[in-house]
Amino acid sequence: MGITTASAPAKIILSGEHSVVYGCPAIALPLCEVRAAVEVSDGAENSGVWFCAADLGEEWAVEETPHNPLSELVGVIFDHIGCPPPDLRITITSTIPIASGMGSGAAVATAVARGVSMHVGADLPPATVSSLVYQCEHHYHGTPSGIDNTVIAYEQPIWFNRDADQPTQPLIEPLTLKQPLSLVIGDTGIRSETRLPVGEVRRRWQSNQQRYEGLFGEMRSTTEQMRTALERGNYSLLSNLININQTLLQHIGVSSQELERLNKVAREAGALAAKLSGGGWGGVMLAMVEPHTSADVAQALRKAGAPYVMETTVKAT
Ligand code: PMV
Repeated sequence: MGITTASAPAKIILSGEHSVVYGCPAIALPLCEVRAAVEVSDGAENSGVWFCAADLGEEWAVEETPHNPLSELVGVIFDHIGCPPPDLRITITSTIPIASGMGSGAAVATAVARGVSMHVGADLPPATVSSLVYQCEHHYHGTPSGIDNTVIAYEQPIWFNRDADQPTQPLIEPLTLKQPLSLVIGDTGIRSETRLPVGEVRRRWQSNQQRYEGLFGEMRSTTEQMRTALERGNYSLLSNLININQTLLQHIGVSSQELERLNKVAREAGALAAKLSGGGWGGVMLAMVEPHTSADVAQALRKAGAPYVMETTVKAT
């Protein structure tokens, strides 16, 4: 049947991380230049499904690793399609830094869901791909809001709001950007598993609900104002809100010395605003820049030791 190729982008969260788990809205953007990709081909007869992670030099058979999240995803995909998995070989490559808040796991899973379903002739819409990936993320990450799989499967800027009472049916709206948005992403190089800060925020929320509900309320208002700023192209307001967002994330307790240091470096090099993006404690920060300062900010972050730096522009929609 030849080779089927598919891919999926990285993502960043512009506003609302953590508070989104508690029913507040969030804004997420796809980063289409960095992607996870798969090549799917027919496997040898009776070989079952094999994965090959080309960058890591690892191979595994789904049958022998039922608890691997991607093995489980294969089961979930074929349950949905309604047939047993055929013999397949799935080769994965990715340029997305791992465990850095850029959605690497969800992007790999989305590329697998797209590639495998296309290979067997099933055309799955983004909502279905997103939901299949969520089922696996949910199993492995505890209480994910679903924002990662959604922005990656839809591959467009989104407004995401998950009602705590109806977690499986979030409100997802495409977001209008009146103007292109230039960003520089810098990785601290500190790997951070999202479930750890998410778990710690839950413990803190449980022991001080009043304080945390207050912080989440401020986050809600910041995210709502950011939506308006994006829709109207009011980027001076947007930059203020991004900085406010970072202060709130500090208060929530998910920033770190290294994230603060890179934010400061970016601002001093001319960025209009800077914040951590995603789970925090490590992973990436993003800087909002004017196009003519982008290269300087990127250079300053590299000089400050960020092991991965990327300049990107999210298109107007
Ligand atoms: O995957 P990350 O690190 O970008 O974090 C996702 C955002 C959180 O709000 C921290 C968690 C979630 O499930 O929404």
